[in-house]
Parts: sequence; structure tokens; C-alpha cells
Amino acid sequence: MVNYIDAASAPLRNTGAIRLYDSQDFEGMRKASQLTARCLDALVDIVKPGVTTDTIDRFVLQFGLDHGALPATLNYRGYTKSSCTSINHVVCHGIPDDKPLREGDVVNIDVTFVLDGWHGDSSRMYPVGEIKRAAERLLEVTYECLMRGIAVVKPGVRTGAIGEAIQTYAEAERCSVVRDFCGHGLGRLFHDAPNILHYGRANEGPELREGMIFTIEPMINLGKPHVKVLADGWTAVTRDRSLSAQYEHAVGVTATGCEIFTLSPAGLDTPGIKRA
Ligand code: MF3
Ligand code: CO
Ligand code: CO
Repeated sequence: MVNYIDAASAPLRNTGAIRLYDSQDFEGMRKASQLTARCLDALVDIVKPGVTTDTIDRFVLQFGLDHGALPATLNYRGYTKSSCTSINHVVCHGIPDDKPLREGDVVNIDVTFVLDGWHGDSSRMYPVGEIKRAAERLLEVTYECLMRGIAVVKPGVRTGAIGEAIQTYAEAERCSVVRDFCGHGLGRLFHDAPNILHYGRANEGPELREGMIFTIEPMINLGKPHVKVLADGWTAVTRDRSLSAQYEHAVGVTATGCEIFTLSPAGLDTPGIKRA
């Protein structure tokens, strides 16, 4: 039985088919994504020892509201915050709370703004004060994984090529790739087809076509790849409590490669670490 709400939202359901977006749609994604990037830029000066993740979350909500956007995570499947804040061995979906950040922490802040119906989804790692060399190296490896995945995106290659590029580099650096979470189609919907695995083989998965839009968001661990979700139903942590890192960009496939929608306009894609 189809009710009115189902009927009205039917064109916006994840049916498994991969949507193709046109140049006007790309412009919508650019605007939403750049708003998210500017918020992540502004957080560089906010993240420091003593600041709580709730303070970060309130900043994200206010930044969105000030610019005509809403956080996609607010009331998403029972999630009640405007961001995810994942500290140290937390792999993803850490829930902001009243605990202060501490010197030496590394925290991923993941923000998705919905602007004019388009979803801008991106995350970065933020060092809190001085961090250990091992942590800095994990952040460098993880951003390089993301950029190596992005580098292979063009029409005709399969999604598995992204996973292969990421896994090959991560494992050569003696790190591991989390299997339990993946990138995703994005656009009018927050989480759409296709799934973008961060491991695998180049001959696997659907073929990319011009107009596809998705995220790449590898989670890379210093230890083993295995995760567990805590009793709150969201917080994913490494089983061996080893350090975990993640960066996320949203990309759109073009005729010759891809456009990265979520690049920092200020060059702050990797705050606090070398390269960018
Ligand atoms: N932004 C996350 C992603 O990259 C999703 C967070 S969903 C939440 O897909 F409910 F945990 F916030
Ligand atoms: Co995402
Ligand atoms: Co995200």
C-alpha cells in the first residue's frame, strides 16, 4: 500500500540505479559542497585542547543556518547532531558530547550541508595541539589514499579501481582499510547508489559514467581493519583500539576525469599536516 508521503518521495528513493546529473545539477553540488568546505575551513581555528565536540557541533549547526542550509545528519535515522566527531580510535560516526578534546588527539569532523536540496558531504582530520609522529603519518597516508582513489576516476573505469588504488597504497604503508563502511552516491539524496568500496579489484563494481556523483571516504587504521559499533548504535571503533583516520571528498565524474566539489577554497584540506 503506497501512501501520499511514499508517493511524493518515490523519485528520491535509493532504487539501486545510479543517477546521472547534468551541468546545472553539478552547479547545485558545487554550492552545497563549497559551503561545507568553508565550514570545515572555519573549524581549523576552533579545534584546540579544551574545546568540546558539542561546541564544534553547535558551530556547524549555526554556520549552516546562517547560510540557508541544514545539516543532513540532524534527525537522520535517529541521529540528533549536526556533525560526526570521531576521535583517535573512533573510526566514524562519533557523536558530539561534552567531553573536551585533549592535546595529542586527532579528530575527524564530518559535515553534510543540504543547500537547495543538494548534499555537500566532506570530512577532514584535525590535529589537537601537538600530535605524535605516528598519528601524523596515519593522517598523511589517509589523505594520500583519498587522492589516489580520486585520481583513477573517469568514465569507463569500474568503481573497484578506486578501491584497488586505496587498498594498494594503504597496505604498502603497513596500514589497513576498514571494510564495514563505504563511500556512496550523493546528490539529491544523502546516501544513494553506488557503494564505493575502499578496497578490492579494478575489474569489480559498476562502470563509471559522466554525470555520476559520489563520495570517497576511506577509513584507514594503524592496526587491524576490524571495527565494532558501541551500544549507542552509532560510534564505530577499532576492535584493537588502534588509531583510525578518514578524509572525505564528494566528486562528480566529468568527460575526462572528475571534479572535486569539496576542495577547500583556502587550501586547508589537510589542516595541520604536510602536503595538501
Ligand atoms: N556524513 C557521513 C557520511 O560520510 C554520514 C553520517 S550519518 C550520521 O556518509 F547519521 F551518522 F550522521
Ligand atoms: Co559520506
Ligand atoms: Co560524510
